[in-house]
Amino acid sequence: MRLWTFVYCFMALFAPLSNIAQAQIGDVEHGKYLVTIGICESCHTARGSKGEAIKELRLAGGRQSGGLNTPNLTPDLETGLGSWSVADIVTAFRSGHRPDHTIIRPPMGVFFYSGFSDYDAFSIAVYLKSLAPVRNKVERTPVKAPLPVWPEITSVPEPDRADRIALGHYLTQTVSHCFQCHSPKGQNGLPDLTRAGLGGNTYQAPGGGSVVSANLTPGNPDGIVGWTDEQVKKAITQGVRPDQSKMVNVMDFDLYDQMKPDDLSALVAFLRTLKPLKADESAK
Ligand code: HEC
Ligand code: HEC
Repeated sequence: MRLWTFVYCFMALFAPLSNIAQAQIGDVEHGKYLVTIGICESCHTARGSKGEAIKELRLAGGRQSGGLNTPNLTPDLETGLGSWSVADIVTAFRSGHRPDHTIIRPPMGVFFYSGFSDYDAFSIAVYLKSLAPVRNKVERTPVKAPLPVWPEITSVPEPDRADRIALGHYLTQTVSHCFQCHSPKGQNGLPDLTRAGLGGNTYQAPGGGSVVSANLTPGNPDGIVGWTDEQVKKAITQGVRPDQSKMVNVMDFDLYDQMKPDDLSALVAFLRTLKPLKADESAK
């Protein structure tokens, strides 16, 4: 009995220390979850003739995104990230440069991923390292446009998970980077977060034609401001609006559908706090 009391006191004493160490180690299962709701595979998995993701090539790159080939993220030594350390991978998606000092370009979402907390970022990297290596050589697309300048990120604290709005903000902006599509671009070509949620960007629809990303702010009277939380969740995870009409399949509903219920609730709670913006403000 006395011994156990001693052991528990000892553990309690060292718990904070181990939390810090844990942040730089990460957790494979947690990383898998973040890769899913961070929709990494949406771009980093090649597609078949019907537009379906090829299972055997999951996260092995080879899809075109914004005119660039997506690299192989599996730990294959020659064609993937096999020779990169966990810290190299974290630096790549948070600070936007590779171990060979070349710059990673949009549409890779470094602009958003720079907000990943240490624990989350390391979890993603250890998960990628834990994958079975897939041999899939992808040519890096040559540099044509001017290179972006990313801030150097060395450490990001955990979001306050007890604060639902703060957590929802983190999930919306960083993890699931909804504003990549739902914010207009500023003069530097990067998303303008002073108009977060306004939408107004045009995307190719999978079946042909085009579709414009919706205004998620309360400034859109026909939008989510008039929907219940359950209806907003259904739109995000099933692609179905309250009138039962189907949304064009540009968002990765099936990946967002794997968001934990508490996380999804926090995300929706945060969307309710967006500054009201009207569509004509996109012309400014
Ligand atoms: C919108 C599409 C898109 C999404 C989503 C995306 N990526 Fe990327 N990613 C790219 C493209 C395109 C490149 C290559 C950029 C270049 O060539 O400059 C890239 C490059 C990378 C690289 C550099 C690898 C190398 O060998 O050069 C890493 C690491 C990476 N992405 C990790 C991730 C992670 C982790 C996620 C999810 C959290 C993710 N990506 C989500 C498009 C995407
Ligand atoms: C790849 C771009 C892209 C990403 C990423 C994206 N969306 Fe969308 N979203 C769209 C487009 C395009 C539409 C319009 C679809 C339509 O009109 O059929 C849309 C529509 C919506 C709608 C319907 C709103 C309405 O008024 O009809 C909601 C809600 C929504 N998105 C929320 C989100 C959330 C939350 C995220 C992040 C978890 C997200 N979206 C990520 C492109 C995107």
